[in-house]
Amino acid sequence: MFAARRAFSGALQTRAFSASARDLSKVTVLGAAGGIGQPLSLLLKLNPRVTDLALYDIRMAPGVAADVSHINTKSKVTGYDPTPSGLAAALNGAEVVLIPAGVPRKPGMTRDDLFNTNASIVRDLAKAAAASAPDANILVISNPVNSTVPIVAEVFKKAGVYNPKRLFGVTTLDVVRASRFVSEIKGSDPADENIVVVGGHSGVTIVPLFSQSSHPDLVGNADLLKRVQFGGDEVVQAKDGAGSATLSMAMAGARFAESLLKAAQGEKGVIEPTFVDSPLYKDQGIEFFASQVELGPNGAEKILPVGKIDAAEQTLLDACLSDLKKNIAKGVAFVAENP
Ligand code: NAI
Repeated sequence: MFAARRAFSGALQTRAFSASARDLSKVTVLGAAGGIGQPLSLLLKLNPRVTDLALYDIRMAPGVAADVSHINTKSKVTGYDPTPSGLAAALNGAEVVLIPAGVPRKPGMTRDDLFNTNASIVRDLAKAAAASAPDANILVISNPVNSTVPIVAEVFKKAGVYNPKRLFGVTTLDVVRASRFVSEIKGSDPADENIVVVGGHSGVTIVPLFSQSSHPDLVGNADLLKRVQFGGDEVVQAKDGAGSATLSMAMAGARFAESLLKAAQGEKGVIEPTFVDSPLYKDQGIEFFASQVELGPNGAEKILPVGKIDAAEQTLLDACLSDLKKNIAKGVAFVAENP
């Protein structure tokens, strides 16, 4: 009896020890001085799971770090200079790397219009991450996500360090928007609205599955569908040339990072939507797809299937897959042509 109790308490102590070792989490933001980067850094500073916050940008990261570092939470904040050694130091030992570096949209632009500028930014940051943080979870926010995620994958493959379970395109904002828009229609609390959104992260590749929610009557609601697929445009237009979603995106990015950290620290059943290297449509030549993914200590532990959907949603999914295939191929080709 005592022996059993001792063994149990020993197991508990071991667990407590290993949990605290794992609780040391360095999180790096690349593009930390931008519209998303700054509020994202703020939210990460407020997260007690983050013990070391590393901020990098080609401008002003030390300034943002100095500001955020005065917030009275325990984590250490460091801003790095825009040099190769600064970038390497920012990445070294990171458990999570968030990448919101790049240019945002102006009115009239699609996310794909950002490709020419952002592809090379993401490629270069991915090279640095492959060298200095090959085991980190890489969270890509820079658009077009449907193409930038394959770019990171290709760079990591070339460097021989690609782990498909640790690369994520952040599509959280799509479900954040969907749950908020539904709650506005239904007069409900958005916290109770779990809307599954699959596919990718741009226009018609964003496919909300209302048939799987508690409001299947919303399947044919064209206005709602348009808001979920093109909600980003509302912000781009309202900001009138000064950028795209930054504050809601920072919240979404911080939520995804928090989910990843809590899953890494042993919490079970943590499920987030995200654009990952996915088996779901590989037979159709589509290597990446956003769906519900169960997170864990190894990153993407389990990719959940799309499940049963409505015929109208299937039509949306077909349109999504056709676009997605081209977006992914564009990212892959970019790295092949511009290594
Ligand atoms: P921003 O222009 O305000 O900030 C971008 C930051 O990246 C700037 O501080 C800039 O100096 C930095 N930067 C540029 N090149 C860099 C490099 N090589 N290394 C490090 N930092 C670099 O743009 P914002 O609004 O923060 O948007 C960033 C990206 O996030 C855009 O591509 C935008 O389209 C995307 N986005 C993604 C969303 C999503 O749901 N995944 C939602 C909203 C925006």
